[in-house]
Amino acid sequence: MSSIGDCLADATTRLRAAGSETARLDAEVLLGWAIGADRTSIVAHRDAPVGADAQARFEGGVARRALGEPVAYIRGIKEFHGLALAVDRRALIPRPETEALVDAAVSEVMARLARRRGEAGSGPDGGGEPIRVADVGTGSGAIAVALAVELRRRRVEMGRHVTVAATDHSPDALDLARENAVGHAAADGMRFIEADLLPPVLPDGGAAFDVLLANLPYVRSDAIAGLPIAASFEPRQALDGGSDGLDVIRALLGRLPEALAADGVALLEIGADQGETGPAAVEAVLPGWRSTVEPDLAGLARILRVVR
Ligand SMILES: C[S@@+](CC[C@H](N)C(=O)[O-])C[C@H]1O[C@@H](n2cnc3c(N)ncnc32)[C@H](O)[C@@H]1O
Repeated sequence: MSSIGDCLADATTRLRAAGSETARLDAEVLLGWAIGADRTSIVAHRDAPVGADAQARFEGGVARRALGEPVAYIRGIKEFHGLALAVDRRALIPRPETEALVDAAVSEVMARLARRRGEAGSGPDGGGEPIRVADVGTGSGAIAVALAVELRRRRVEMGRHVTVAATDHSPDALDLARENAVGHAAADGMRFIEADLLPPVLPDGGAAFDVLLANLPYVRSDAIAGLPIAASFEPRQALDGGSDGLDVIRALLGRLPEALAADGVALLEIGADQGETGPAAVEAVLPGWRSTVEPDLAGLARILRVVR
């Protein structure tokens, strides 16, 4: 029977030879998955034996990883905004940089709730309308679910105070998003809508959204082939943003005049190299509207904020 240390050493060598730049980390995470333990225990118990079933599972995972499949798809889980989300080839693996969009959305929703509560006789507790949020191109549901969980943690009553419409044109992705919402008990007040960006008639009789979120595909078509091999396991329609990467975002901008409330805000994730072309697209599609670019923690362009 091999030890944890032997399994790790062997798998790291194989994964490195197969081209993984994170061979040791991959091996540790996959062995943890195979054994049913977290990575810290794996690293701390190098001499412990690995049982036959766990070893077979580990070998299967390492073989898949050696072919380039992302570890998240092999494990079926990706950590996002403190949640363990189910992931598989139906949708893009949520990226850590998208957590900034969730944080920005939480701030927007909380500020709007506070404002409404301050307006005598209106607001959710005074019988007014809930804050309407859209997550366009929801994929695994990462943004919608993380937002709902965070709002619930802040004692916001989902459904009564806030509703979320999560859309995608992929029915498979929507199934996964639904599974994640149910799995995190975050489906209250959340609707899943199959649509090209947004349905022709918006939900709730055409009511506009107060906060519209989207992490749509923004990779240039000619850059897709140069992405790490792991991305080839993800749906192309989740990545390909057309010739300058902004085709899908431009199409969504075109829907904002009817889809966004008068004092609404759209927060759109963009690529690090789209800090100038993003606002230029807003100017071209929505003359007279205002946009700003918010950087992420690394100082790179990340969120395009759009208001009337
Ligand atoms: C970059 S992925 C992001 C998924 C998820 N929001 C996240 O942050 O992990 C983009 C998603 O947008 C969806 N999408 C692309 N074009 C779309 C369109 N025209 N209408 C609706 N969804 C679209 C894709 O199917 C994919 O799920």
